[in-house]
Amino acid sequence: MSKPKVYVTRRLPGEAMDLLYQRTQVTVWGEDAVPPPKEVIKREVADAEGLISLVTDPIDAEVMDAAPKLRVISNYAVGYDNIDIPAATARGIVVTHTPGVLTETVADFTFALILAAARRVVEADRFTREGKWKSWEPMLFLGQDVYGATLGLVGLGRIGSAVARRAKGFNMRVLYYDVVRREDLERELGLEFTDLPTLLRESDFVSIHTPLTPETRHLIGAKELNLMKPTAILINTARGPIVDTIALAHALRERRIWAAGIDVFETEPVPPDHPLLQLDNVVVAPHIASASIATRTKMALLAVENLLSVLEGRVPPHPVNPEAMGKR
Ligand code: GLV
Repeated sequence: MSKPKVYVTRRLPGEAMDLLYQRTQVTVWGEDAVPPPKEVIKREVADAEGLISLVTDPIDAEVMDAAPKLRVISNYAVGYDNIDIPAATARGIVVTHTPGVLTETVADFTFALILAAARRVVEADRFTREGKWKSWEPMLFLGQDVYGATLGLVGLGRIGSAVARRAKGFNMRVLYYDVVRREDLERELGLEFTDLPTLLRESDFVSIHTPLTPETRHLIGAKELNLMKPTAILINTARGPIVDTIALAHALRERRIWAAGIDVFETEPVPPDHPLLQLDNVVVAPHIASASIATRTKMALLAVENLLSVLEGRVPPHPVNPEAMGKR
């Protein structure tokens, strides 16, 4: 039997690529730093049965209609807001993702941003390198304490609860808001369930851990930022459009909130003239919260296992729309 044709929109780390070369006829987009244009994806999927996509690749009905043989879209990410799921289901295309393997790594990075923004690590690094350090000073780079502060988690899924576990080690009071109440985790971790306005008013750190959906788009805008303390810090490692970043830049510039740590943007890559990038009280990163060597390797293996499972007639470990299975 001939091997199924597969298109991969970027080279993946580790042995995942070897597996693909052994078990499929694979074509890979050749550039690491630039995603394939939509026209290229449409052309490459024309006779493909499988597609491995990234968060950078919008996979909509137009792409799917260019791929009459496509049976599986395996997203190399836990989030899948780049894919039109109803369109895939309607066409009998199974969509899969990579939850679980990146949870702790993203929670680690969330804490990296919490600590960096609170203690002004990036500003201090720049200042030291630029030769501006003249003397130990009682008021040089004063920041905010993390230990004992109140953390508000917007979303208490896998990653939100991993952040809550870390917060306990910092003796933090942890509030959370979610559409699903988790009384088991409230008991286990001593968390407090609140509504969003209360969480915003009472937290020293607000960290976002919801998926991007029509309901969460601009969940944090000017009105919500106005509820936060002037000493509060906003952290976003989830998806950029959950926060109105123009409103966030205003709030930071006017010191209506104290700082922010941002790994995800409304447009990625973020344009260099974005108002957030003009501010000192923002720590930014280029969407790297899951980027540890071990985790990106595990994500690649899981994305390939998801893909091969569908192509070889097995149930994939993490389908998003299991109802599409067996329809194509
Ligand atoms: C990355 O953003 C992911 O969703 O895994």
